[in-house]
Amino acid sequence: MSGELGKHVRKVLPGETCAIISDSNVASLFVETVAKSLRSAGVRSTLITIPAGEKSKTLKQAGAICDRMIAAGLDRQSFVIGLGGGMIGDISGFVAAIYHRGIPHVQIPTTLLAMVDSSIGGKTGVDTRDGKNLIGAFHQPSLVIDDLEVLKTLTRRQFNQGFAEIIKHAIIADAKMFRTLQSGEPGSARALQRLIERNIRIKSRIVAKDERDQTDQRALLNFGHTVGHAIERAGDYRKFLHGEAVSLGIVAACAISVKRAGLPPNQCASIVDLLGRFGLPTQLPPKFPRKKIFDALKFDKKFEAGKTRFIVTPRIGVAYVAKDVTLDDIRDAVQQL
Ligand SMILES: NC(=O)c1ccc[n+]([C@@H]2O[C@H](COP(=O)([O-])OP(=O)(O)OC[C@H]3O[C@@H](n4cnc5c(N)ncnc54)[C@H](O)[C@@H]3O)[C@@H](O)[C@H]2O)c1
Ligand SMILES: [Zn+2]
Repeated sequence: MSGELGKHVRKVLPGETCAIISDSNVASLFVETVAKSLRSAGVRSTLITIPAGEKSKTLKQAGAICDRMIAAGLDRQSFVIGLGGGMIGDISGFVAAIYHRGIPHVQIPTTLLAMVDSSIGGKTGVDTRDGKNLIGAFHQPSLVIDDLEVLKTLTRRQFNQGFAEIIKHAIIADAKMFRTLQSGEPGSARALQRLIERNIRIKSRIVAKDERDQTDQRALLNFGHTVGHAIERAGDYRKFLHGEAVSLGIVAACAISVKRAGLPPNQCASIVDLLGRFGLPTQLPPKFPRKKIFDALKFDKKFEAGKTRFIVTPRIGVAYVAKDVTLDDIRDAVQQL
């Protein structure tokens, strides 16, 4: 983690106090360097650590964080730094959105998934008993700092799950990147940096067209996520990592795309093959209860008034929102997983 961080923050934000929100794994790895760098740039930080894992992304936890920020004397001039993966990015952004009706948010993503996806676009929020991200706010970060060094402490499994979102971006918007990925994992730090930059550009471009998710543009980023979120929930947020559930969701979305959008079966096969090459699951464990997934689908925000808005791909590099995908189509695809 770079010692330059404090300087970058100071260039963008005038505040002299901040909360660093992190989780129990990440804090012990990087928080000292971050706090020290901020201190030398004249920023006083209060560290708030919450237990690692999706189970911490709750309204109750967000409330507890706010209470600690109040107790630490943080005010409207303060800002929030989210230091961690997507879980921390989402909850710290949500806290920043509501604290004193909104204070600046700095994202320091520490997972590949967070760098290429969750740290961009300003969607913040928490999960409820009934589903993921059901409570939240749009709150764009004032600054996102990506330091590739931090990725070195990720497990292979955690690193690989980021590729689910990268492959998703390729499928919906970048056929060339899909072909690059087919030739293997980025072999050097420079190649990884280029890949991350490319994904940031893809996501930012889509978000910029539809920041508030009101037209069908931003919805394209949900490719693979309707079934993916249901799988995550059915596995009680423990069995599958977000990216792993999304990988399975992509497989289901591709099967539906073959049926409803004319995706050539060989392109569907290439997608499944690519996911597998990055160590991502493409089949459910045989004994996994499919019914649980189907039950979880009804909590999806996209099933408004019983109608589905399902993202399909007619060919790699292109996606659109289909209105004719039925719940039966989805059920069939889940059965086949
Ligand atoms: N806001 C958005 O647009 C958006 C988009 C995609 C995903 N998300 C959210 O992101 C979350 C998933 O993100 P995630 O996979 O990064 O989850 P995460 O934040 O739970 O991180 C995964 C695990 O890796 C550990 N970790 C993080 N950085 C590490 C590092 N550098 N070294 C070692 N361990 C490290 C964490 O402690 C955690 O145990 C979900 O909550 C999902 O809903 C949000
Ligand atoms: Zn995702």
